[in-house]
Order: sequence, then C-alpha cells, then structure tokens
Amino acid sequence: MKIAFIGAGKVGTNLARYFAEGGLDISGFFVRKNQSTDDLRDLLAASDIVFITVNDDSVGPVVKRISGLGLPLAGKSFGHTCGSLSVAVLKPLEDLGASVFACHPLQTFSSRAVEDELLKEMHFFVENPQDPHLKRIFDRIPNPLHEIKSEDKIKYHLGASIMANLTMGLMDFAFDLIEEIGVDKESGFQAFKPLLKGTCTHLLEEGPEKALTGPLKRRDRDTIEKHLAVLKSEDRELYRLLALKTLNLVEPGPDTIKIKKLLKEGANNG
Ligand SMILES: NC(=O)c1ccc[n+]([C@@H]2O[C@H](COP(=O)([O-])OP(=O)(O)OC[C@H]3O[C@@H](n4cnc5c(N)ncnc54)[C@H](OP(=O)(O)O)[C@@H]3O)[C@@H](O)[C@H]2O)c1
Repeated sequence: MKIAFIGAGKVGTNLARYFAEGGLDISGFFVRKNQSTDDLRDLLAASDIVFITVNDDSVGPVVKRISGLGLPLAGKSFGHTCGSLSVAVLKPLEDLGASVFACHPLQTFSSRAVEDELLKEMHFFVENPQDPHLKRIFDRIPNPLHEIKSEDKIKYHLGASIMANLTMGLMDFAFDLIEEIGVDKESGFQAFKPLLKGTCTHLLEEGPEKALTGPLKRRDRDTIEKHLAVLKSEDRELYRLLALKTLNLVEPGPDTIKIKKLLKEGANNG
C-alpha cells in the first residue's frame, strides 16, 4: 500500500516520517511550487491512499483540482487532516468512486520536526474509520483512534483550540502583568517556568478539578477583590469571566456564592 501527501507542510512531513518509521510505504509528496499537474497525476496514479495536508482553506480547491484530472479513483482512498472541516468536503472524490475519510491528529505541529514521543502518544479523531487503507495504517501504528461524527467536529475543534491555542493568549495576559512590575518577558518566562511546569504536571496527572489551587480554591474573596482592582477594563472582564468559569471547579457553599456575586458585580463596575 502506497501513501501520498498533498502539501509538505508541518502535518504532512511529520505524518509521512512517522508512518515511514512504522514500516509504511510513502509514495511521495505533491509540492505545488516545484511540481506540475502531470506530477500530481503520476503521484495519484501510483498511490492507494492520499492525505490532503494543505491549509484548511485550500482543501476544497485541491479536491476540485484532483476531481478535474479525470483519473479513475475507484479503489483509492482520500482523506484530509483538518479538525474543523467535515468529510463532506471530499464528496466530489467520493462521487468519482474513491473512499473518503477525515483523520485529525490531535497534536500541535509547530514545526516539521515534532518529537517522535509526542507523535506516538497522539490520538486521532476520524470520520469514516472503516476506510480499508486507513485501517491498514492504524494496524501498523500504536495510536488510539476515535470515531467522530461530522456534526460534532466544530465543538471538538473548538475544545482543542481552547487548550492548544487560547492558552497562549492567556499566558501573554499573565506575562504582560509581570512586565508591568518591571520584569522583562524573557526573565519572567524563566522565573515562572517551574510554576508552569508544576501546574501542567498536576493538570495532566489529576485533571483540572484536583489540580486547581489559589484564591478561588481557597475561597479568598478579599484577594480576588484586590485582583479585580488592579485590572483595567478589558483585562478585568477576561479575569472575571475566567474566574466565574473556574469557580465551577470549586465545591459550592456560602463563600463561593459571595465570590460569584463579587465577580458578577465586577461587570457593572467599569
Ligand atoms: N499544525 C497543526 O498543529 C495541525 C494539527 C492538526 C491538524 N492540522 C491540519 O492539517 C492541515 C495542514 O496543516 P499544517 O499545519 O501542516 O499547514 P502548513 O504547515 O501551513 O502546510 C500547508 C502546506 O500546504 C501547501 N498547500 C497549500 N495550498 C496548496 C495547494 N493548493 N496545493 C498543494 N499544496 C498546497 C502549502 O504549500 P506552500 O508552501 O506552497 O504554501 C504548505 O506546504 C490543516 O488542515 C490543519 O488544520 C494542523
């Protein structure tokens, strides 16, 4: 079974290397800058399963380009790796006889050289996991596969995006505050690294409820009031809403009711 990739970016190159290390046979990449339509045709003709690993907005145009080639697609499989698009975007290929799937690797690929350890651990969320060629790939790699329905993909992708992307905005919010007291970002990053490491370790080992510490967990209303007082309007809003969400992890009681009132009042105090 030969595996091709359209798009040699971060996901395409990492998956190809990982699959090859698992003993799977890679037929090649299609890289639009260096290759012609004839090259694309030859690659598809020589492959059994094709991963479309281009940026999300290019998946549709790539599908259109492939379906316009006039190749017989029966017996071949095509999939994309986008977390937010459903398998429906591949319908033109299915109409030409191909088997189609969507296979999202639940990992953050920030370079073309993601550590093997991270690749081995990652789970995949897949639409149409019964695809015969995809099944053969998962027979050779140790990664867990979860089936996902098309209608659940946006919420799934949003959850992943909050965890993997919005946390960076949250970190920047925190480092801005540290910078305001005269510690530059780099020194602040070094000083807060052990705290972040400890927090991540406990989060990963125990989950958010058990890993939570700090004034919300201790129900220290006065400390929370002081936090609110030093924040400017937009940042106060962010803190307030996040603290209200985090308070859901704390066992409710009279103190949490007082804290909730304080946080809700914060919305009316500029
Ligand atoms: N990065 C992640 O953490 C991650 C995680 C899971 C899933 N994904 C998904 O995986 C897919 C690829 O993401 P990525 O991070 O690997 O993107 P990327 O690094 O930006 O790579 C995308 C590649 O697609 C190529 N491309 C774009 N349009 C093309 C076209 N019309 N024909 C041929 N090649 C084309 C680009 O080539 P040029 O250099 O010519 O522009 C580029 O090499 C996306 O659907 C993304 O949502 C990403």
